[in-house]
Order: sequence, then structure tokens, then C-alpha cells
Amino acid sequence: MQLRKRPRHLRSNEVIRSMVRENHIMLTDLIYPMFVCYGEKKKIPIPSMPGIFQYSLDEFLLALQEVVTLKIPAILLFGIPEYKDDIGSGAYDECGIVQEAVRLAKKHYPNLYLITDVCLCEYTDHGHCGLVKSGQILNDESVELLARTAVSQARAGADMVAPSDMMDGRVLAIREALDAEGLAHIPIMSYSAKYASGFYGPFREAAGSAPQFGDRRTYQMDPPNSDEAIRETELDVEEGADIIIVKPALAYGDIIYQTKQKFRLPVAAYNVSGEYAMIKAASANGWIDEQRIIMEALVGMKRAGADLLITYHALEVARWLNKPGGGGA
Ligand code: PBG
Repeated sequence: MQLRKRPRHLRSNEVIRSMVRENHIMLTDLIYPMFVCYGEKKKIPIPSMPGIFQYSLDEFLLALQEVVTLKIPAILLFGIPEYKDDIGSGAYDECGIVQEAVRLAKKHYPNLYLITDVCLCEYTDHGHCGLVKSGQILNDESVELLARTAVSQARAGADMVAPSDMMDGRVLAIREALDAEGLAHIPIMSYSAKYASGFYGPFREAAGSAPQFGDRRTYQMDPPNSDEAIRETELDVEEGADIIIVKPALAYGDIIYQTKQKFRLPVAAYNVSGEYAMIKAASANGWIDEQRIIMEALVGMKRAGADLLITYHALEVARWLNKPGGGGA
């Protein structure tokens, strides 16, 4: 045989494979989502998300110690309020659960980067991401409350806000509200391409945020669409988004790729609760090699173009990466 080109040349051992490896998962990629709730000494497991908990503030602080020790740079905070009402007032309460968690975390871990989820669904009794009138999800009225939420979180000490509601115009409203309150330095990481996905099931258990009627299809995007993701993201970029989130991640690699290519902004892939639950369930059954599959799923998001990985796997991934020689995979 007269072969000149032999791709196998560069695969013959781990040394050369690692030298020509194109994508890597790094500690600085990781954003760890966490759930905080009221009470004391509470560390409530989420049955469909083994390893993930709702933490009362004392337990939250203990958990942060591990996050910081593992050198995870950032967390994304979700709150479970004590009471829900039809206007989601817990979301923008200056003493709300997320605001308190942010104050506490900043005090003890000033270098941990705190990102807060901006949405109403955890705080409304109907479970929708905006205000509801006659069965309709109102847009502009909801946007006002979302802007208030972002301002109160930033005032408490959040380093960045992340609106996940998918109302039209919320990035601009949040940007203007932050600027008007002397918070012009706070960046916005927007869930720009967020789909109405079945993969969010376990999260709704974790955050107690399942809609009590209907579904989220009038505000979140239709899964078969990709042009729509470009239009949505374009609006958010014009309105002032600093980082774009694509969500979910695994079934949406094309959207991660396209948004990265087109907008050239940092892109965060949200490796959502259902994706996490599937891997955990299969590995609990011994059907897959857990570490290998987690690293393969995450590096696939990076290969598609993601700069950041929002993932419930952050702790375990960081443990692997911190091991001597820890390429993780
Ligand atoms: C709230 C929100 C959701 C998620 C993040 N923010 C749920 C939803 O839209 O129903 C999902 C995260 C996950 O599944 O891990 N708007």
C-alpha cells in the first residue's frame, strides 16, 4: 500500500493524543447551579437528581466551602421562597432567599463569582415565569418585575444576573434598570436560546416551579426551530446581553455552534436537569461508564463552541480535574 496520509499516526499513544487534542474541559469553564431554601440544617435531596440538594443558608455555606476548595469559579443561584403568590413577590424582595444567600456568600467567599437566576416561576403560585391574567402570560408587566428582581439581586451583591424567563424585551429593561441604579458594571448572561423542553422535568421538582396550568410554549422556543434561535439571540445581543446561554445543551449542539459562529460572544451551554438525571440513572444501573460519558457530553458542548458549561456535574468534574494529571477523561 502506498498510503501517505495516515490519521492513525497521531493516535498511537496517549502522549501524542493529548498533544493534538483540540478541546479541553477546564475548571474555569464551570458554573455550578445551586438551590437555596429557608430553614436551618436543611439539605434536602432532589430524588431525580442524585447529588443535588436544596440547601438552607447554613448548609449552603458549608457546601460553598467545597465549591471553593475545588476551584469552581462561579455558581448560579436559584431560590425556593417560603410563600408563593400570584405576583412572585419573593423574587424581588430585598430580603428574599436569593438576596440573603448572595449577601452571605459574598461575605464569606468574596472571590466566588455569584450569578443569580432572574425569573418569577419559582416564586409564583401558578408556576409561570411571568404575571398571569385571564390565563395569558403578560409580557411587559412581567418585564418590570424581572428588572426589579435583577436590581435587588445586584444590590445584594450578585456579580452577574441571568434572566431565564424568555419574556420579550427583558434584557433591555434589566440593562436600563441596572444602569439607572448605579449598577452599570453588572453584566447580563441571558438565556437567549431557551427551548420549551421536556429536559427540565427534574429541575421543576428541585425548584418547585412546575406550571400549575398549561405549559411554557407561549414564551419558550419551539424545539424544531433554529432560525428563531438566531433571531432571539440577535435581540438579546442588541439589548445588551454580555453572555448567551443555549438551553438545553445536548440536543442543541447546532444552536451552540450557530450562535457562537454568528455573534462571537461567550456562549454558555446549560447542561440541564434532565440531561443530568439520564446519566445518573443509567450509571446507577451500571449501564454506562459515568465519568467517561459526563466528560464526553461536556466536551461535545465545547466542541460545538461553548465557552462555559453550566452543569450539575460541576463538583464531580472539578474533583477529576483537580487530580494530579487530571485531564478528567
Ligand atoms: C426557570 C428555569 C428553568 C430552568 C432554569 N431556569 C425551568 C423552566 O424553564 O421550566 C431549567 C434548568 C434545568 O432543567 O436544569 N425559568
